[in-house]
Amino acid sequence: AEARERAALELEVLTNTLDELEAGLEVVEKDGVVIWRNKRAEQLAPAIPEGHDHWACPGDVRACEQDVTGVCPVRNALDEGEPGHCRFAVKLEGEERIYEMQVFPLGADHDGQRVMNLYVDRTAGLVNERRLILAERLASLGRVTQGVAHELNTPLATIRTLAADMVAALKQSGGDPQQPMLDDLLDDLSESAALVHDETRRLGRITQGLLTGRDLTASEIDGAVPLGAVVERARALVFAGARKNVPVAVGAELSAHTVAADPDHLVQVMVNLLQNAYDAVREGTRGGVRVSARRDGPRVEIVIDDDGPGVPTEIEGRLFEPFATTKPPGKGTGLGLYTSYMLVTSMNGTMSLENREGGGARAVVALPAAGERGERLVQIGRSPEAAE
Ligand SMILES: Nc1ncnc2c1ncn2[C@@H]1O[C@H](COP(=O)(O)OP(=O)(O)O)[C@@H](O)[C@H]1O
Ligand SMILES: [Mg+2]
Repeated sequence: AEARERAALELEVLTNTLDELEAGLEVVEKDGVVIWRNKRAEQLAPAIPEGHDHWACPGDVRACEQDVTGVCPVRNALDEGEPGHCRFAVKLEGEERIYEMQVFPLGADHDGQRVMNLYVDRTAGLVNERRLILAERLASLGRVTQGVAHELNTPLATIRTLAADMVAALKQSGGDPQQPMLDDLLDDLSESAALVHDETRRLGRITQGLLTGRDLTASEIDGAVPLGAVVERARALVFAGARKNVPVAVGAELSAHTVAADPDHLVQVMVNLLQNAYDAVREGTRGGVRVSARRDGPRVEIVIDDDGPGVPTEIEGRLFEPFATTKPPGKGTGLGLYTSYMLVTSMNGTMSLENREGGGARAVVALPAAGERGERLVQIGRSPEAAE
């Protein structure tokens, strides 16, 4: 009698404990009779639908979120002896919650006589999961925006400077009616206007690409791009907007070389590399930047040397990673080399940045030389338009 009393007491303690649980727990017989359930399971028990006289599978009453087969996990556990699960939404004390029901077959040999259902509240976890996905999306949006800002920044600064120069020059010559406009002033102005015109069109193509969702790194290869013109354009872009006068020497041999490349992309790569060289040199008191080119078998190498302090050791292994920068916020984004690397790769070229013996840095871009017989090469970029 004493043993029975103790057993009853233990059962009561156990039942009370289980009733305190946040999770729902119930045991159901094969015929659908609920043998036992705790308080939470009581609250979660689906309303018994018309035509059923007792327990109903949540999978039948509430749509299971992940139940593609449409099989009630409880029925499956009873019939096949397999555990199963089902996620469903339920309104509890006026609040929308998401519960996961886990179903375990009971019995020594899983004979499918009864199952135990465990209901766990997954709301918080799912909310966090969704929040993470959103944060992830926002972050990647931020990266894209930063990349675009980077692409637009240098040419925009140049355009601003050139436009300001043009206005100042016009004002000056207009202020003195005795003095006719000098020929070289006119030359300067038309050169600047041409640059502004070209750059505005290039920027237009970038924003157009963004609006149409085109892959910005996909290249449209032109079989014969003259290096001299490309480098001249990039030089004008970087150094026309430069505040400090840094000497730039462009080798005469450049105009002798033509490469297979996307001309817009090659300008962009050169702008990025020249900007880096300028950044490296302008802090110092002397030294400059030199651009040269040489033929190396089927390729042409474009070399940019500067007399700056060289690549800082702390960034050496990560130069081509996005956002790797040693420049203060607002000065550097760490996207220049990363973007350039992607563009050069998509033009079937290679790129490197190393320190030179005796100081300074050297960037080398190698691209396929223009077709030997001068023919336009087949378009080999990754752009979908180019593939047709
Ligand atoms: N010519 C160079 N001389 C020295 N360091 C360089 C040179 N070019 C690039 N670097 C280093 O590589 C980093 C990444 O360059 P980049 O990707 O263009 O980003 P950002 O110029 O915005 O910092 C720079 O912050 C700098 O530390
Ligand atoms: Mg840079």
